[in-house]
Amino acid sequence: MRVLTVTPNPALDLTVQAPGWQPSAVNVVDRAQTDAGGKGVNVAAVLADWAAHGESTIELSAAGWLGQGNASPFEELFRERGIQDHFMRVPGETRLGLKIVDPLSQSTTDFNLPGVQVTPEQVAALTANLRRLAPQHSAVVLSGSLPPGVPSDFYAELIQALRTPAGPLLAVDTSGAALTAVLNAPQLPQLLKPNIHELEAALGRELPSDAERLAATHELLNRGAEWVALSLGEEGAWLVWNGGAVLARPPQVAVVSTVGAGDAMVAGLVSARLEGLSPADALRRATAFSAGNVTRLGAGLPPHADLLALQQQVQIQPQLREQGEL
Ligand SMILES: Nc1ncnc2c1ncn2[C@@H]1O[C@H](COP(=O)(O)OP(=O)(O)OP(=O)(O)O)[C@@H](O)[C@H]1O
Ligand SMILES: [Mg+2]
Repeated sequence: MRVLTVTPNPALDLTVQAPGWQPSAVNVVDRAQTDAGGKGVNVAAVLADWAAHGESTIELSAAGWLGQGNASPFEELFRERGIQDHFMRVPGETRLGLKIVDPLSQSTTDFNLPGVQVTPEQVAALTANLRRLAPQHSAVVLSGSLPPGVPSDFYAELIQALRTPAGPLLAVDTSGAALTAVLNAPQLPQLLKPNIHELEAALGRELPSDAERLAATHELLNRGAEWVALSLGEEGAWLVWNGGAVLARPPQVAVVSTVGAGDAMVAGLVSARLEGLSPADALRRATAFSAGNVTRLGAGLPPHADLLALQQQVQIQPQLREQGEL
């Protein structure tokens, strides 16, 4: 089984750990690390760890655009994790993403740079390549923002081409205009994982209550999505499908960095769908993947025994339609 993750706007993530740091002050950094990152790259790294745990036969491919000036950390990650590299190289350097983590307040502050400029020819070339690669994969995961020069309907257009009865499972995790375009296109992907802020922005309204959140996810199901995972940060996540909804509360963990929590959730959901797990079991797994990911710097899973222990600690609350909760 092969999974293709697409990351149009990858980043070299520089994570600095600065306990108690303050703006407008000189701050001491006690740990720094550079990781090849970006959302789809993180999803691939987590899935590669899952396969290395011996729990699945998933093989990974990763695609997108990479600046040719600083591609080597990505190439090293792909070699280490056995990920097939289908990234198109473009002139320039892949952007840097700065993450400042504070172990005292357990907070993460992100600065995302815009990314390399992509030309219409490069958009056409990657689109053609993805349409050629997709049929060889069981799932295609479209993740993250779009770099300058890429039209905001890039994902929406791919989904129209790739969503066929015999086609791969399509999963989307994006925000802003790219998410709005995906949600407004005739065909939606089977799997969506917005966080609450992204869904509120895309629908143009606040979703303060469970009832409003469930109603919003049902709008997406009615338009063709099959699983909508709505993540709520440390409060957990809903998974909503046509037969019901479950809410997962994550275990309390020592937070090292929340970078990639959502990506680990997507990896958990995609692996669970491919393995035929029920939605409740899928959300339990995905929540454990996310909790495990926040205990470390860089994308990946903790050792298998730790992951299983986390999975046991996830609390699942069913909210079935029959109970009249929706
Ligand atoms: N502090 C935390 N402790 C445990 N689990 C967490 C914590 N923060 C997030 N998670 C888990 O990660 C999941 C995804 O987190 P979140 O809703 O922040 O995603 P996101 O905003 O998409 O993140 P990303 O920055 O990766 O895009 C949550 O549903 C939760 O299960
Ligand atoms: Mg996210």
